[in-house]
Amino acid sequence: MSKAASIPHHIAIVMDGNGRWATRRFMPRVAGHKRGVDSLRRCVKACVARGVGVLTVFAFSSENWNRPADEVSGLMELMFGALASEVPSLSSEGVQLHFVGERANLSEKITAGLRQAEAQTAQNTRLVLNVCFNYGGRWDIAQAARRLAERGEPITEAAIGPVLALAHVPDPDLFIRTGGEQRLSNFLLWQSAYAELFFSEQLWPDFDEAALDEAIAVYQRRERRFGKTSDQVKVQAQAVGTHGRRTA
Ligand code: FPP
Repeated sequence: MSKAASIPHHIAIVMDGNGRWATRRFMPRVAGHKRGVDSLRRCVKACVARGVGVLTVFAFSSENWNRPADEVSGLMELMFGALASEVPSLSSEGVQLHFVGERANLSEKITAGLRQAEAQTAQNTRLVLNVCFNYGGRWDIAQAARRLAERGEPITEAAIGPVLALAHVPDPDLFIRTGGEQRLSNFLLWQSAYAELFFSEQLWPDFDEAALDEAIAVYQRRERRFGKTSDQVKVQAQAVGTHGRRTA
């Protein structure tokens, strides 16, 4: 069987299970999100060490506004605090930060912090970290179509890609969701068309380097066909001298 390229270039993660992690310990849900930030820090380091080029994480969805007010404000404060506490060390690791999502209904305090963190890390090249915040896959497709319509351009597949919010990176190779649920929850709907899906039972605060390695190992056993047949993929892999290299 031909295999996917050894290390996925782009990993996307739905970091689910923070609330349950906290509730099981009789802690407030926001305490679980705090542990989620610790887990994210560990995951970023592991991705840098393994040569992953892009990591995209779902930190706050368009639908998360519907959560209890104290949890929403807790997540906003967590984001604000993380900007101050995490950005210097992320930057020293060579991480280039992008915040992806609708900014119009975020506070000026938060948006100024996001802009500053992006500017501060713009020259870094080891890992692109996209933090999807106030993001939804449907929002992204709609805003892309709106931009094309405003310019009077035809709305085609080829035209949509460059105006999506993740136009600065290739599509994800590996899509991980922790927390035991098996759904996309409006994350990277367009971009995940050919991503390999991996669902983990582990709650996000427990998702460690070994869990990441397991997800990568499962990915490496998959055959990525991009609509072709298995035989075509094998012939193609022999021709380029590498297994499963992506050409479509
Ligand atoms: C889903 O778990 C997780 C979230 C809605 C928030 C994810 C946020 C973080 C990991 C923190 C990252 C934050 C920053 C500032 C980068 P859930 O609450 O739905 O868990 P549950 O399914 O157990 O209730």
